[in-house]
Order: sequence, then structure tokens, then C-alpha cells
Amino acid sequence: MQFNKDFCEKFNIKYPIFQAGMGKTMGTPTTPELVYEVSNAGGVGFLGASGLTLDEIENSVKEIKKNTDKPFGVGTLLPFDIAAQSESRDEVRNIIKQKYPEHFTYVKALCEEYQIEFQELPAKETVSRRVAEEQIDLILDLEVPFISMGLGDVTYLVTRTKNTNTKTLGLVGNVKTAKIHNDAGIDIIVAQGYEAGGHTGKIANFALLPQVVDAVNVPVLAAGGIGDGRGIAASVAFGCVGAWIGTAFLFSKEVDIYSQHQRQLIEGSSEDFVVSTTYTGKPSRIYKTEILEKWNSQNLPTLPMPLQFVLFDDFVWSAEQSKKYELMNNPAGQISGMINEVKNAKDIVKEMVQEFEAL
Ligand SMILES: Cc1cc2nc3c(=O)[nH]c(=O)nc-3n(C[C@H](O)[C@H](O)[C@H](O)COP(=O)(O)O)c2cc1C
Repeated sequence: MQFNKDFCEKFNIKYPIFQAGMGKTMGTPTTPELVYEVSNAGGVGFLGASGLTLDEIENSVKEIKKNTDKPFGVGTLLPFDIAAQSESRDEVRNIIKQKYPEHFTYVKALCEEYQIEFQELPAKETVSRRVAEEQIDLILDLEVPFISMGLGDVTYLVTRTKNTNTKTLGLVGNVKTAKIHNDAGIDIIVAQGYEAGGHTGKIANFALLPQVVDAVNVPVLAAGGIGDGRGIAASVAFGCVGAWIGTAFLFSKEVDIYSQHQRQLIEGSSEDFVVSTTYTGKPSRIYKTEILEKWNSQNLPTLPMPLQFVLFDDFVWSAEQSKKYELMNNPAGQISGMINEVKNAKDIVKEMVQEFEAL
């Protein structure tokens, strides 16, 4: 099979293999090194900006630019359905303590059960639209070739990037959102199926990809469950121009995640990666930790984002400080079941290209 030449020429890339921007949750999945290694190998590396400070984003982008002259991108999240009025963690914590005291007590009891010392995450801010807008301003100032957005206000992104050289990618999980992104003027749509790691929708790729391809008139990348050249070829057969791949790059030497988490990925089968709202308040595919079973077997409702997110960030932070890494949030997709070896990022790209071209 062959990659779509027009698409590659238009966006000045060698292979339409995009390494997905993955936010900081349990270490740093998308290190600058991962991003530039993927871009130098002919793919397009993406830095996940979610969870990074503005200084961290700026330093990372400078490091990437120092090490590659190839296109790369930065991934953001621009939420517009935040349930709490405040973006300060302390204030959100106070809302939880006043309105949902049983939730707070439950998480403290969970810590005690696992001999974890409860500690509040020191970060001051939580998910907020203002933080996301500041990130977008900075990314555009840094003249990054691509910017992607998961969960969010696509019109804002497209308006802000007008008259810049930065190309936009929008993640969608259904046809309705794909049409909204298309009509807003996004450059590339990433259709992400239910199989994917991290926050995900309800439709699997066999149903999603052909419908999104038919519904829009911009190029579509397939995301979710792609771990080798066969997955890319299947995406192309559905009419996509290439792939947006997260989980498979968690098996690269360049990621900076706990070895315990990489082990969960290596040893886990596809059934071990389930969709849960426990750690963030929104459906996210993650490794099935003991904490999920505990939460599911009690009677408290899951709070909306960012309340549940702030509640569980404190748990995850406490678990990390007590070195109980296996109880932390570990997002990854169903394709983890197929991959069981850690490799250099450039070899992952190279093998995917070889497998694809041999078909
Ligand atoms: C560890 C991890 C973190 C992620 N973080 C983000 C994020 O911050 N923003 C985003 O838009 N997507 C995020 N995603 C989703 C990816 O961008 C991508 O769509 C997904 O990984 C594709 O499916 P796959 O994991 O099966 O390859 C994340 C995925 C993983 C596995």
C-alpha cells in the first residue's frame, strides 16, 4: 500500500503517522525526545500540553526545535463544560468538602487502607478554559507547525489560528462532532474510536471511520487501536489519510513513565484496559487498577469534572508519594494487549512504515 501523496505534500510530511499528544498524568508520556525522534523518523511527533506549565511547554518546544527541523505539533484540551465555577484547586476542594463530604472521607479511607499518607496535590490550578487559552496563545507565538485539540471549543481554536502557519487537528468521537469541526474550518480531523487510550467516545472504529470520512471534506486520521502497519492499512482502506497513534508509543524507550506503568501495559491483555470515569470524571480508557474495582463496589456517584478529577488527583499524588505506583491512573488503549516489547520510537515508526508498504 502507499500513503496519500497529496496529503503528505500539502502538509510537508514524509509519513502520515502522527504520534498522539498525550497529557501528563503519571509521568510525562510525550517527552521532547519522543516528539523529535518520531519527527526525525518521518512521522509527526506531538507534545501533550495538558498538565504542563507555560514554561514547560516553551522549554519543551525549544528543545524539540533544537533537535529536529521536521514538522511536529502540540496537543491541547480546551474544555467548555466545566462544572465548578472555580479554577483554583483549593476552592474546588472546598466545594467537595462542603457539598460531597462523603466523597472526601472515602478517598481518605482508601488511602488508609493502602497505607498511603493522604496529601493534597500542591498544584494551584485545575482544568480551566483560561489556562487552555493561554497555552494556545503561547503555542502560536512559538510558531509550532501543528496544534491539536481534544475535548473542546473548535471554533475558538480555528479563529485563533487564522492568519498563522499553524495547522489545526481536532479530535472527534462521533459524526455530529466531526461535522462541527469540519464546518468550523479545521484542517485535519482525528476520528478516535472506542478502542483508544485516554478520554474516549462510545463508537468503535469499524463503524466510526467510514461515517466520518463520508461526512466531512477535510482529511481524516484514524485513532484508537492502531499498533502496527496493518492498523494503518485498515484506516487507509476506510478512506483515512493516516493514523494518530498514542498507546503504541507508550511502548517506546523515550517516554518518561514509571516502569510499573509500562509493565502494566506489557503484561496487560486488551480486557485489562477499561473505560472508567473514576479518576477524572469523564470516560477514559485506563488500566484496570484495584482502585476501579473499589470505587465501583461502593455507592457514591462519580462527580463531574473537575470535581472528581481534583478529588482523585489528590489520591494519585498521595499514591505516588507513597510509591504505590500501581494504584495510579494509567491511561492506555485496548491495543496494549497486542504489544509487549519496548523499542526506540524511530524503530516503531520504521516498522509501521515497512509493514504498511508491504501490504
Ligand atoms: C496516556 C494517554 C494520554 C492522553 N492524553 C491526551 C490528551 O491530553 N489530550 C488528547 O486530546 N488526547 C489524549 N489522549 C488520546 C490520544 O490523543 C489518542 O487519541 C489515543 O491515544 C489514540 O488511541 P490509541 O491509544 O489506541 O492509539 C491520551 C491517550 C493516552 C494513552
